[in-house]
Amino acid sequence: MSQIPSVLFVCLGNICRSPLAEAALRHEAKAAGLDILVDSAGTGSWHIGKGPDPRSCDEAARHGIDIRSYRARQVSPADFARFDRIIALDSTNFADLRRMAPSGAKARLSLLLDHVPGMKGQDVADPYYGGPEGFETTWQQVSAAARNLVAELATR
Ligand code: 4NP
Repeated sequence: MSQIPSVLFVCLGNICRSPLAEAALRHEAKAAGLDILVDSAGTGSWHIGKGPDPRSCDEAARHGIDIRSYRARQVSPADFARFDRIIALDSTNFADLRRMAPSGAKARLSLLLDHVPGMKGQDVADPYYGGPEGFETTWQQVSAAARNLVAELATR
């Protein structure tokens, strides 16, 4: 394919998990020299226009990445034509995306942990109501998926 690959990560609020997934994939793609378009969005509308949760910003900063300029947005039907891949952080997001996908959509839908061997079908747990350790777990999971996605997208 001559066009650069494009990936949209989707969680519920677009302030905790999917911004970290976006950051991890940008980071891994850059390290691998892979040109890629990456974005994130939420299925919900509560946080539109807001920056990521401060605990996500802290977690990204621990890995040398500044995500404070990211802004939450809601996924839209147009995203299914704009992106090659739309990747849900959990199975509820996945089911919601499936429901809203226009027929004949270009985007291929998947679950994030399906990209991590041994974790197929599992959810990236929502860390919103827990402590900072949940954000560390989220980071480990999204960065493992990001590394595998880069390998997958670089060879397509
Ligand atoms: P996220 O986490 O889906 O990973 O961004 C959440 C953020 C906010 C809410 C739920 C989940 N909320 O209910 O406001």
